[in-house]
Amino acid sequence: MPIRTTPSGATLGATLEGLNLSRPSDAEVDAVVEALGRYGVVCFPRQDLTPRQLRDFSARLGELEVNVIGAHQEAGLPEVMTLSNVVENGKAVGLPDAGQGWHTDMSYSRTVAFANVLYALKVPQRDGRPLGATEFCDMCAAYDDLPAGIRRELEGKTALHDFAKFYDMMRLRPGSKRPPLTDAQRAAKPPVSHPMVITHPISKRRALYANPGYTIRVNELPEMEGDALLEYLFAHQTQDKYRYTFRWAPHDVLIWDNFRCIHQAIPDYGPAEHRLMKRCQVMASRFAPLPA
Ligand code: SIN
Repeated sequence: MPIRTTPSGATLGATLEGLNLSRPSDAEVDAVVEALGRYGVVCFPRQDLTPRQLRDFSARLGELEVNVIGAHQEAGLPEVMTLSNVVENGKAVGLPDAGQGWHTDMSYSRTVAFANVLYALKVPQRDGRPLGATEFCDMCAAYDDLPAGIRRELEGKTALHDFAKFYDMMRLRPGSKRPPLTDAQRAAKPPVSHPMVITHPISKRRALYANPGYTIRVNELPEMEGDALLEYLFAHQTQDKYRYTFRWAPHDVLIWDNFRCIHQAIPDYGPAEHRLMKRCQVMASRFAPLPA
């Protein structure tokens, strides 16, 4: 069946129909990667996948990460993680507060993430409208719009990214059930440096690579000057004009490109309004090192 592509009309986003992700051909996987490079965020509606099929499809995009938190993994499939506010027999079925603030997945890792593959099984609804959207901002557009002086300042600069920044921020939120990170977890993910501007490996566009969730310091600047630059960039990159809001339907698979986007999950639903997602994270090993 031919693939039908409908762009969202916003700076990011497209819907691809006519694909069965449980058994895509090599040509279809290539088309997914190409669409990702072009649109940054791509949705595949009405998919019906077992956790193993989700894992197997995701693995065709690249090497998969096993999350450092080490919880909420699918039995026998550690690369598939459950994100959910569902509680069964007093036990959380998934990580309830994943991604609830602007960030880039795995920017805290030496090999960063290329793509996330998120599969919706339960989407909260109120008054007939879906809740629990995922928001994205376009880092190629944000880079293109930077004043020339800031673009010059960023050339050759690197920033430090720390897993603990986002984790500890989430832990401080009222009602958080996150335990403190263990020494072993901190040691497994020490802060790492990446260029602040990268060349997108597929589209070859320049993209801003810094995010409020994990970026803690500009390595080549005195602390105060670096912090002021980061504050400026965080405000710049999250402006409405770069934003695309994806509203879920059950059985959507959404894939996004972490070179092109920062993202956040919107927690606008209550404990009885259930959201249940399965996630695989595709690492960028095949593009490493990050092209400055
Ligand atoms: C994530 O940040 O990986 C999760 C996003 C979401 O659940 O919408």
